[in-house]
Amino acid sequence: MMPMRRLILCLASLSTAYAAYTFPPRVVRNTGVPTGQLKNISGIQTYLSYPPNYTTSTKAILHITDIFGLPLLENKLLADSLAANDYLVLMPDLFAGDAISVEQQEAGLNLTSWFARHPPSEIDRVVKMIIGYMRGELGVERVGGVGYCFGGKYVPRFLTGGGIDVGFIAHPSGLTEGEVGGIGGPVSVAAGTLDASFNSTAKSRAESILNSNNVTFQSNLYYGAPHGFGVRVNQSVPQQVYAKQASFLQAVTWFDAWL
Ligand SMILES: *[C@@H]1O[C@H](CO)[C@@H](O)[C@H](O)[C@H]1NC(C)=O
Ligand SMILES: *[C@@H]1O[C@H](CO)[C@@H](O)[C@H](O)[C@H]1NC(C)=O
Ligand SMILES: *[C@@H]1O[C@H](CO)[C@@H](O)[C@H](O)[C@H]1NC(C)=O
Ligand SMILES: *[C@@H]1O[C@H](CO)[C@@H](O)[C@H](O)[C@H]1NC(C)=O
Ligand SMILES: *[C@@H]1O[C@H](CO)[C@@H](O)[C@H](O)[C@H]1NC(C)=O
Ligand SMILES: *[C@@H]1O[C@H](CO)[C@@H](O)[C@H](O)[C@H]1NC(C)=O
Repeated sequence: MMPMRRLILCLASLSTAYAAYTFPPRVVRNTGVPTGQLKNISGIQTYLSYPPNYTTSTKAILHITDIFGLPLLENKLLADSLAANDYLVLMPDLFAGDAISVEQQEAGLNLTSWFARHPPSEIDRVVKMIIGYMRGELGVERVGGVGYCFGGKYVPRFLTGGGIDVGFIAHPSGLTEGEVGGIGGPVSVAAGTLDASFNSTAKSRAESILNSNNVTFQSNLYYGAPHGFGVRVNQSVPQQVYAKQASFLQAVTWFDAWL
């Protein structure tokens, strides 16, 4: 057992290490005013969130969103929460102003024609341009990628050398085994027991593919977590609140280790 005096010293040094941050960096923000800025990057509206005391960064994170995109408060706050951990974050508008609203989705809008308007070729083009901007104008050398739901398909597509170096995905939708098989960099995966888009069969398959390809990976399964839990949760359901916070921490510790 650790003697009490050493334990107290340990705790004291921990609290000093955390005191420097403006926001508690390890806690994902669910409410409040976003702190980032919009920038038009070659015609792509992009939300940039800066780390405290930002000057330049050799490491940065590309945030590939769900279908709710830039207008959703939780997406901006997720970017800000990552930035509070000392990462510059860029979150491009993948849909050229045509994101879905939560109200539309809850009303049961048929998304067939929306998906047809935003095919992989178009999303790939936007992602490629923003990565080019990060590595070019911003001088970023190591690019991390986070992808939620819709965006969870695109991090793997670019995690093949040259695009994204290190990835984190949560409850991906439309992710194929071929895309998982193409992953060449470290990847962390967050899945929920209530998510039909990436169910336990898909999760196990992804794990065996990554393992047999000798990819550095981690995967966590969150009980009681529905599709979208990394972004939008019901704040009255403890399992959902836990899943969002723990998967955020999963992403941050992953980038701290591998990016
Ligand atoms: C940012 O700079 C201010 C002023 O120099 C300093 O007080 C603060 O601790 C710095 N914050 C971080 C996170 O380094
Ligand atoms: C963004 O910049 C492009 C030129 O790069 C311009 O054509 C477009 O109108 C701008 N969009 C906005 C919303 O400012
Ligand atoms: C959605 O719309 C497409 C055509 O745009 C149609 O083929 C499909 O059956 C519709 N799906 C539902 C669930 O209504
Ligand atoms: C997961 O989804 C696939 C395809 O939609 C299906 O074949 C499989 O049975 C599902 N697995 C579970 C555990 O529900
Ligand atoms: C797996 O990767 C590690 C380094 O990441 C390497 O040392 C090892 O030889 C690789 N194993 C196989 C079977 O390729
Ligand atoms: C959130 O969860 C509570 C408790 O289960 C439930 O009463 C409420 O209807 C839920 N809210 C939404 C918007 O689903």
